[in-house]
Amino acid sequence: METISSTTQPKKVSPKSPDAREAELSKLGNNLVTKFHVLMRVSQIYDSKNVALSQFINEFLETINTLIKESGILSLKIIRDDFFLNDQRLRYSVEGFTSFKYLSTQWKKRLIGEVIFKTLVGEEMLRHFIYAFINLEEGREENADLLKKQLESHQITSIEVNPLETVEGEEGEESFTLRKEDHREVGKKIFFETIGTIKEVITNIKGNQSADVRKLKRLAQKAIHLVIEDESILLGMTMIKNYDEYTFNHSVNVSIYSLAIGKRLGFSKKILTELGITALLHDIGKSKIPREVLNKPASLNGEEWEMMKKHPLMGVEIVLNLKQLGEINPRMVVGVFDHHLMNDLSGYPRLFLKKEVSLFGRIIQIADAYDAMTTPRVYKKIPFTPEQALAVMLREKTVHFDPLLLKIFIGLVGIYPIGSLVLLNTHEIGIVYKSNHDPKLLDRPILLLVDRDQTGGVQKELVDLTEADETGNYRRSIVKTLDPYKYHIDIAKYFL
Ligand SMILES: [Fe+2]
Ligand SMILES: [Fe+2]
Repeated sequence: METISSTTQPKKVSPKSPDAREAELSKLGNNLVTKFHVLMRVSQIYDSKNVALSQFINEFLETINTLIKESGILSLKIIRDDFFLNDQRLRYSVEGFTSFKYLSTQWKKRLIGEVIFKTLVGEEMLRHFIYAFINLEEGREENADLLKKQLESHQITSIEVNPLETVEGEEGEESFTLRKEDHREVGKKIFFETIGTIKEVITNIKGNQSADVRKLKRLAQKAIHLVIEDESILLGMTMIKNYDEYTFNHSVNVSIYSLAIGKRLGFSKKILTELGITALLHDIGKSKIPREVLNKPASLNGEEWEMMKKHPLMGVEIVLNLKQLGEINPRMVVGVFDHHLMNDLSGYPRLFLKKEVSLFGRIIQIADAYDAMTTPRVYKKIPFTPEQALAVMLREKTVHFDPLLLKIFIGLVGIYPIGSLVLLNTHEIGIVYKSNHDPKLLDRPILLLVDRDQTGGVQKELVDLTEADETGNYRRSIVKTLDPYKYHIDIAKYFL
């Protein structure tokens, strides 16, 4: 299938396999590191006004601007001994080794850990940057700040630098928990920023204004990075069911579940990004449906239902009219189109010809159904518990869902999905916080204990159900799940 041509991506390529894409990025990354290395070297020889420098500057510019055009942003970061290009670790080629080594030593000496180019870069800008960079005194902790100030003095705001992150005692308990906490903070930021952005996009579309999808893409990329590191953080966030802002929360939750499924399917980062954006936009067509219909507490009449059934098609129209169409691949449009088309081709939109539901569509369906069922709505104030929702989905399995994907999804959320309230054999009550990755231990997740006697504050004690006592038996086991609404427990609180 041909990809849609784009103004931002002059050299649009046809869909590639994940391996090919990774190879391409690694080639570009190696090129970038080499050019950076050469530029640093020559700028230490020539002064900033020297004409001989232009050639190297221009070569470097070409490399970075190609990458910025493709991804919207370029971040080159050092973590321990590796370089990461937009969060993807660069494997250096044999020829590239010297450049990698040189660059990482130079950065580390100056305690700089990351350089981000936020927009396309021009020659003057780059000259200022590279000279400010090489003139940094070695070993000064405030170097990143100093460099920032220097750039600001030249009105350069689109290049950002961050200090080197030192990881002391790598396997030490302390730095491990610290990193975990960081991830949680990052997760919250991404989660709420994405809700804000999708709200902005929907508001713009309602007002017939154009919407920027690049921001969504950047957020999706950040989310993917986190999902790959530790999916339980964002999965936990999906428990923050915000009743008033259903549409926005729903889009973000569907995106998180979809990404987690995509990760299990081994999708490349590029495909994951597309899936993430498609899921964020899957219900965008609803922005054209009157609020009264969307929020009607009673069941819809014939005319209203007909209107509702048009939202996938309206979504397609909106997506095709988005400003940065170059960011949209046909499989994303199809995913929006068929997210209510069931496995047996019931559902909507009605088709004249038989068509297989697309993979994106099948993934989003599962994420969509699960989130909708577990969220309180105007017409169903008390939602299904995660367990009940999965039971309903399993019952409808072959008719409505792709059975294999559903199996993957259940493996992902566990028999006791994240956010379930459970009773233990020790008479304690806990909330499932993280599922166990070992398929044989799906019934032994990590729990947050809920202190029953406490009235106000949330107490957070984590326990691992695989933990054994002195006799070698499990210390705690789940007896059954409980309905949080009956116990007046606000699950969301435990994930914030
Ligand atoms: Fe929908
Ligand atoms: Fe939906």
